[in-house]
Amino acid sequence: MTDLGIRAATSADSEFLVDMLVEAVNWLPERNWSREEILANPALAHYVSGWMRPDDFGLIAVDPTDRPVGAAWFRFLTAADPGYGYVSDDVPELTIGVVESWRGRGVGRMLLRAVLDAARARGIRTVSLSVERANFAARLYAAEGFRTVESFEDADTMVAEIGG
Ligand SMILES: CC(C)(COP(=O)(O)OP(=O)(O)OC[C@H]1O[C@@H](n2cnc3c(N)ncnc32)[C@H](O)[C@@H]1OP(=O)(O)O)[C@@H](O)C(=O)NCCC(=O)NCCS
Repeated sequence: MTDLGIRAATSADSEFLVDMLVEAVNWLPERNWSREEILANPALAHYVSGWMRPDDFGLIAVDPTDRPVGAAWFRFLTAADPGYGYVSDDVPELTIGVVESWRGRGVGRMLLRAVLDAARARGIRTVSLSVERANFAARLYAAEGFRTVESFEDADTMVAEIGG
């Protein structure tokens, strides 16, 4: 952990963000959607398509050789094309993923805290996400200040108020 760095995501990171979106979708071991299937699904692809837009922002965790090991990013989606965790047009939605071999070592929590700081620094007061309830990530989010605002069959929409 001590040797990990964090840097801002850039347009050059779009392929790695797709990698991490694939991980986020396939968090269930028995789910194995291909990259192609995910990118062909508009409800999933819109978390990364056209990265990066002017109001996109995110962070990349990197190992000592600068290899990316995780990413957390925010995107503003709209009522016309809402994400699973859509709350409103001015509330960006989080996606987070850590490379499998790096999981359970604090990278996700570090990225989450840092990307919330980055959002706060931009003057953003509210952020959202969607998480399938069975994913332990939901407990991480709750521990870091997210609360459930809407529940669906298997998933919750969670919101964090991050304003000062
Ligand atoms: C969810 C994810 C981003 C968390 O990142 P991570 O680096 O593995 O998590 P951390 O090591 O920072 O651990 C965060 C908390 O989750 C707990 N945790 C980690 N792995 C766990 C596991 N397999 N089962 C249960 N809890 C676990 C940790 O114990 C920690 O809590 P604690 O410090 O109170 O004990 C990462 O596991 C991941 O990429 N998963 C697959 C993609 C995904 O699910 N994305 C989110 C979709 S909503």
